[in-house]
Amino acid sequence: MHSVMAQQPPDVEEDECLPEYRHLFCPDLLQDKVAFITGGGSGIGFRIAEIFMRHGCHIVIASRSLPRVSLAAEKLVAATGKQCLPLSMDVRVPAAVMAAVDQALKEFGKIDILINCAAGNFLCPASVLSFNAFKTVVDIDTIGTFNVSRVVYEKFFRDHGGVIVNITATLSFRGQVMQVHAGAAKAAVDAMTRHLAVEWGPQNIRVNSLAPGPISGTEGFRRLGGPQASWRMKTPLSPGQRLGNKTEIAHSVLYLASPLASYVSGILLVVDGGNWMTLPNDIKKLMDFESSSAKL
Ligand code: HXC
Ligand code: NAP
Repeated sequence: MHSVMAQQPPDVEEDECLPEYRHLFCPDLLQDKVAFITGGGSGIGFRIAEIFMRHGCHIVIASRSLPRVSLAAEKLVAATGKQCLPLSMDVRVPAAVMAAVDQALKEFGKIDILINCAAGNFLCPASVLSFNAFKTVVDIDTIGTFNVSRVVYEKFFRDHGGVIVNITATLSFRGQVMQVHAGAAKAAVDAMTRHLAVEWGPQNIRVNSLAPGPISGTEGFRRLGGPQASWRMKTPLSPGQRLGNKTEIAHSVLYLASPLASYVSGILLVVDGGNWMTLPNDIKKLMDFESSSAKL
């Protein structure tokens, strides 16, 4: 019989709540806490919101598309009975971030947890990546993470403490092909995590990064798992021979955000089943990609 210790919790591919959920952590782990989640209307961020709400937390989900976060909030409230405030906000626009954080504080009176999950990505070789394409990904992932962290700090965490979890990636560890923009942007966020953990530690603020591997049922995987993706090849994806799912990421984020991790700050927690060590990083595929895009 297989050990249950590496067994996947059930998940669904779509941006829907889980039809049933079995608590592994204490169900009141985040009772009456408030979490602000950027990119919380879809994919990994949506599941983080759901799992937090299933542990007693109220949530703010913020991204560019108001219809997206509004629909997500309806689903999350229906499934969990906790409160969820959907807000439209582009992380690249400081004034919009300030207005959203003000609205969140008006609604709930506090923020205990910030999850920086908003990001943008696509596959593109460095040689044909436009200046603006590189800048756009850095603007969303790196500068966006700083903007939101800085605003939440100033408006609440400085005087009350708090927890920040930045969702990053393992792309830079081995210099993943066609990912110079996202790899560089996320590596900068991991550096930011350590700087902020040091500077804001005295205010009782913990700051950590969490880097998922390829996760099923997400836009990130759909974009990077396309026909050109090296991990589509018939090679084992990870030492565990499988993809991760959104619930597995949410559980690890829950750990980092909760009092279970009260003495954990400034780290990068990799949640990828060991994937980064074995993922194909195929320079030959890159050459094929470059020659085919040159024909366009
Ligand atoms: C090359 C591209 C491109 C592509 C856009 N650009 N898509 N270049 N290949 N596929 C270029 C554009 O031509 C433009 O440059 C510049 O990028 C900005 O494009 P816009 O469309 O104007 O940007 P914007 O509307 O701000 O949208 C941002 C975006 C978009 C990142 C380009 O895809 C987006 O909104 N993404 C959000 C959803 C997402 O990406 N989810 C996945 C996250 S997963 P020029 O020079 O023409 O002006 C993730 C996974 C990490 O991060 C790791 C997985 C293992
Ligand atoms: P996703 O569903 O596309 O999530 C990205 C979210 O960010 C969307 O909800 C999007 O909503 C929001 N967003 C994008 N640009 C924004 C902006 N400028 N301002 C505010 N919000 C913005 O993709 P995902 O795959 O679940 O990715 C979630 C996180 O996990 C990302 O940080 C990603 O880098 C990381 N990650 C994913 C994988 C994976 O396999 N999926 C692997 C490693 C890391 P709007 O369009 O409404 O703005």
